[in-house]
Formats: sequence, structure tokens, C-alpha cells
Amino acid sequence: MNSPSSKSLINDEQKISSWRIFFLTIATLTILIFFWTVGDFQQNPFITETLSIQGEALSGSKLFKINCAGCHGISAQGFVGPDLHEATQEMSDKKIINQVIRGLTPPMPSFEIEPQSMADLLAYMHSLN
Ligand code: HEC
Repeated sequence: MNSPSSKSLINDEQKISSWRIFFLTIATLTILIFFWTVGDFQQNPFITETLSIQGEALSGSKLFKINCAGCHGISAQGFVGPDLHEATQEMSDKKIINQVIRGLTPPMPSFEIEPQSMADLLAYMHSLN
């Protein structure tokens, strides 16, 4: 027996289950994005400390010449590593700090650096643009 009303009931059920899938997908994505964001904001104490320090561009430029110029060029114009003049516009300070301390992108090594020196380097890099 297939009365119009039972047909519409089936359609409703199908509708409900596709809504359910839709909401489950949205919920899963929301949770994923939430953890991703929280992970991103979860501050490493080194980064928090570095960002709280007022850096000295001049001292940063000396540190740069010793540690970074070999790859990024004496005035950060780029050599083996990229030109860093736009780096502070393209990357957050946090990302730059991660780039320096984590060694995530070989051949660039990770550096063991004091927060003060890192803040100086950041000040130097901000002075480039
Ligand atoms: C051994 C060579 C080398 C040294 C030394 C080095 N880097 Fe790098 N750096 C690289 C390379 C190569 C890349 C590009 C990595 C990639 O593929 O993303 C890079 C990328 C970067 C980036 C990201 C630039 C961008 O636009 O993505 C920053 C910021 C950076 N370096 C800063 C520094 C600083 C600051 C120092 C000194 C403390 C330093 N680097 C020392 C080779 C080096």
C-alpha cells in the first residue's frame, strides 16, 4: 500500500537523515577547526616571553649577520634562503619565531636562542620594511 501520505513520510525521513549527515559534518568540522585554532593559540612560553620583550634592531642586525646572513644574505636580500624584507608583513611574529626555533623547513636549522635575542632579531626584521 502506497498512499500519498506514507510516501511523503518516507521522503521526510530521507530529508531528516541527510540533514543529520549535514549537521554531523558541520559539527565535526567545527570541532576540528576548534582544536586546530586552540593548538595554534596555545602559547609556547618562549614565544610569550619573546613577544613581551622590546627588541633592539641594532643588536638584532648583529645577530642576523652572525647567524642568518650566510643563508639570507648580508642585508637579508636573500641567497640560499629567501629575501626577508617582506617577511614580517607576510608572517606573524609567532610564525617567524617558530621558523627560527623549530627548524621546520630544512636546510634552515633550528636555533637555540634567548628570548631577548629573538626579540632583537624580530625588531631588526621589522625594521627592514
Ligand atoms: C642554512 C641556511 C639558513 C640559515 C643559517 C638561516 N636560514 Fe632562514 N631560511 C633558510 C631557507 C632555505 C628558508 C626557506 C625554507 C622554506 O622552504 O620554507 C628559510 C626561511 C626563513 C624564513 C621564512 C621566510 C618566508 O618567507 O617563508 C624566515 C623568517 C627565516 N628563514 C629567518 C631566519 C633567521 C632569523 C635566521 C637566523 C637566526 C635564519 N633564517 C637562518 C635558510 C637558512
